Amino acid sequence: MDKIRAKVTGIQGYVPEYRLTNAELEKLVETNDEWITSRTGIKERRILKGENQGTSVMAVEAVKRLLEKTNTDPLEIEMIVCATVTPDLPFPATANIIADKVGAKKSFSFDVAAACSGFLYALQVGAQFIQSGTHKKVIVVGADKMSSIVDYQDRTTCILFGDGAGAVLLEATTEEEGIMDAILKSDGSGEPYLHMKAGGSRRPATLETVAAREHFAYQEGASVFKFAVTNMADVSAEVMERNGLKGEDVAWLVPHQANKRIIDATANRMGIGSEKVMMNIERYGNTTAATIPLCLWEYESQLNKGDNLILAAFGGGFTWGAIYLKWAYDPKK
Ligand code: UT7
Repeated sequence: MDKIRAKVTGIQGYVPEYRLTNAELEKLVETNDEWITSRTGIKERRILKGENQGTSVMAVEAVKRLLEKTNTDPLEIEMIVCATVTPDLPFPATANIIADKVGAKKSFSFDVAAACSGFLYALQVGAQFIQSGTHKKVIVVGADKMSSIVDYQDRTTCILFGDGAGAVLLEATTEEEGIMDAILKSDGSGEPYLHMKAGGSRRPATLETVAAREHFAYQEGASVFKFAVTNMADVSAEVMERNGLKGEDVAWLVPHQANKRIIDATANRMGIGSEKVMMNIERYGNTTAATIPLCLWEYESQLNKGDNLILAAFGGGFTWGAIYLKWAYDPKK
């Protein structure tokens, strides 16, 4: 019997309207456009405004538009996996909320929490259900409302993050295309460098934890930077070597958008020129689980059937990984 693979048959992103510019951040904290641009490559981020607007609001928009675009009946969707570290609620899962709102009444759904590597983890989980032959249509979402856990008094983190969502439709194929290989890694000893101190079972919310601003993302940037550069480049090189790919065989590197300097270093190590690197960090900042699908969405019209893509990420956990994806369709006319 032919091996079943999971191929991406559609991609859709969603970003909220509001643009938080470097100029506006200059009014909130002691920073400046020159520092932010030269140290990170970020010019603005999108922010989801309004009362009771959780991550699912953006994810639902992305999934609804994906279903329309791919002409898919929501009742055909058998499973929805949502990668997020900013769920609407601790429970139920944000994926459950998305499935309900888009009318995917026959799908089972759950969240994956792997911070900035979340989309890669969720993509590999979704792919496995297709490859095993048990599921035919799966949606994988990466979505985060980082503005809900960013401390706008902390200049070292508030300049980095933004809100957004992206989703892909996975379907089965017996062709040599789709998700070809994945290497995913984690190391829990990275916790001290990137975490949220309170709000979990170890340290539930109290008046003290709120007063101490412990419900925000905490990061030791320079340490995370070093781990990110080494590990993202190593795992990308590993997945390329394992599949006999040289720099010239790769059509696109699709890196997590945390810092332009990390992206440049990874591309350099892989022997990939900047013209083949997807980048939109300038306009969206770091949207955590949404960065990779937002890149694929924006570059979709430039992708051709058979293109070799390397998706690579590094994030809190630590978590990191690389996926070799062979694009399965030509640009839609
Ligand atoms: O996506 C999840 C994984 N996360 C990442 O991959 C992020 C990895 N880390 C980074 O991208 C970078 O470390 C940052 C962009 C967060 C920081 O850049 P850096 O070059 O590592 O700066 P630094 O933390 O070493 O700070 C350098 C200086 C410090 O001042 P002193 O101590 O040298 O006087 C900071 O206080 O820059 C200062 N600084 C700022 N200055 C102006 C820190 N943040 C700011 C700011 N504006 N926003």
